[in-house]
Parts: sequence; C-alpha cells; structure tokens
Amino acid sequence: MKDSWLGLADKVVIVTGGVGGMGTRFCADFAQQGAKVVVCDLNGDKATQYAQELQTKYGVETLGVSCNTTKEVDVDAAVASVIEKFGRIDILVNTAAILKFSPLEDLGFDEWKQTVDVNLNGYFLMSQRVGQVMIKQNKGSMVHVSTIASRFPETYSGAYSTTKAGVNMMSRQMAAEWGQFGIKSNCVLPCFVKTPLSAPFYADPEVEQGRKRLTASKRIGDLSDISNAVLFLASDRSDYTNGGEVTVEGGFGIMMGDMTPKPGGRRQYAIEHHQK
Ligand SMILES: NC(=O)c1ccc[n+]([C@@H]2O[C@H](COP(=O)([O-])OP(=O)(O)OC[C@H]3O[C@@H](n4cnc5c(N)ncnc54)[C@H](O)[C@@H]3O)[C@@H](O)[C@H]2O)c1
Repeated sequence: MKDSWLGLADKVVIVTGGVGGMGTRFCADFAQQGAKVVVCDLNGDKATQYAQELQTKYGVETLGVSCNTTKEVDVDAAVASVIEKFGRIDILVNTAAILKFSPLEDLGFDEWKQTVDVNLNGYFLMSQRVGQVMIKQNKGSMVHVSTIASRFPETYSGAYSTTKAGVNMMSRQMAAEWGQFGIKSNCVLPCFVKTPLSAPFYADPEVEQGRKRLTASKRIGDLSDISNAVLFLASDRSDYTNGGEVTVEGGFGIMMGDMTPKPGGRRQYAIEHHQK
C-alpha cells in the first residue's frame, strides 16, 4: 500500500470507538492502507484483541488502548501510550458515541448528561489532548464522526442530535483556531447505514424500504461508504478541506422538496403538465 493514492502508509491513526460497528471498519481500512492503527475503546480487552488481529492480518504495527474518552486521566494515558510507542499522532478519528431512546419529557437528566458527556465532551477531550501533540508537530488531521441528525432532529433520541450539532461547531472552531498549526478538522455526517447497532431497524423489510425511499440514491449505506469518506478526510488528499462537513447519506438531506406530495405523484404530475 506504499503507493496508494491516499498516502496513509505509516501514518499513526487513533480511532475512538474502535471496536464498535463503524470503528472496526475504519481501523481495518486504515490498516489495509498500511497505517499504524491505535484501536481505542472503552472495551479495552476487545480493543487489544482487535489490534492484534489487525497486526497479524495486515502486517502493520498496532496498539489496543482501553480508554473512557470522558475521563481526563484515561485520555492522557492513552495519548502518552501512543507517543511512547509511535512518537507522533497523525490522525484522530472520533467515533465513540452513544444514543438513548426516549421522548424528551421522560428522559432522565442523568441520561441527557451522559450523552452530552460521551458525544460532545469526549470528542472535545480527545481532540484537545491530541491537538496539543499535533500543534507541536505542526501537522495533523481530525475527523469527527457526526451524523445527519446533527442537522435534522432525531426525534425520541434525547440529547443525540443536540450533541452532534455541537460536534459540528466544535470541529469548525478547531479548524478556525488550529488551521494555522497545520491541523485540519472535518466532520463526516452519515445517515442510514447497517451496523450491529442499527441492524434491528432493518430486520423489518418495510422499515428498510421506507428508509430507502427517503434517500435520493434509493439505498441504505454500507460501512465502506462511510469509511471511504473518513479515510479521504484523514488523508493529505483533502488538505484544503478544513472545517467541513461531508454528508454520506445518499442525499437524504436534500429530499424535502421531493417528499412534498403533488396530485398523482410528483413525477407523474410533471409529465402530465409538461408544456413543450
Ligand atoms: N450506526 C449508525 O447508523 C450511525 C448513523 C449515523 C452516525 N453514527 C455515528 O457513528 C459513530 C459510531 O456508531 P456505531 O454504530 O459504530 O456505534 P457502536 O455503538 O457500534 O460503537 C460505539 C463504540 O464506542 C465505544 N464507546 C462508547 N462510549 C465510549 C467512551 N466513553 N469511551 C470510549 N469508547 C466508548 C463503545 O464501546 C463502542 O465500541 C457514532 O459517533 C454514531 O453517532 C452512526
């Protein structure tokens, strides 16, 4: 992979939420590109085991790190262990997040705060501590996995949308403050994608069909769709993209006009009223 267009070989990459549905795919794709992958997760045993698997499969150096991204002591220890092993950090991918279903009126305040803690505070803490290293290097790339729900409220999901909207702004602020130090900070906004977390939604074919209809591309996303965007934004190929938000959602966010009903259906209506 030394000659790959992405040029990720030998880059040191930290992926938080590294053993989750999306994180595992990101880690594997970075490793396949020859990057040195740090699998960082609350589930430290799984992270260590997965890092070992990637090392064996792709022949790259890896590290598994147990880290609660909301705890300063954990994050500082994680960053120190990466520096000790690899001496630098080229890329941070913030993926570790949680979602709690509930109507707002029933949501416990502790649940709201927990979501803010992991999804927003955790993203900030990781970015700040890794950012301090990148500032010294005068180079670095941050990719924050957000969601299209940062733009449209994900109803009955507590603080999820609110925290992710915060992530988008946090990323812009990091870009604005740290661009001068050679650091770029961008968000990826996925929508429908099958992961172990979302698998139950797709067990019902009607739900799957309904979701496909809401997208311009008329399909559900694959993990590769999201990972491709993450790797591109992480790489030097996107060097002049800073403070950006890349939607990876099959055009879900541009479909409001198309969803507005017209008599007989929008396409049919246009065909019947087409005056040449
Ligand atoms: N799955 C989807 O359909 C979807 C859609 C849009 C956006 N997203 C976003 O993608 C990201 C990944 O989602 P996923 O489906 O892989 O979720 P997931 O639940 O499968 O994985 C999340 C991982 O984060 C880890 N984690 C949770 N809290 C942590 C903490 N405090 N410190 C460290 N690690 C912690 C978990 O152990 C888990 O491995 C999230 O940011 C999510 O908001 C997901």
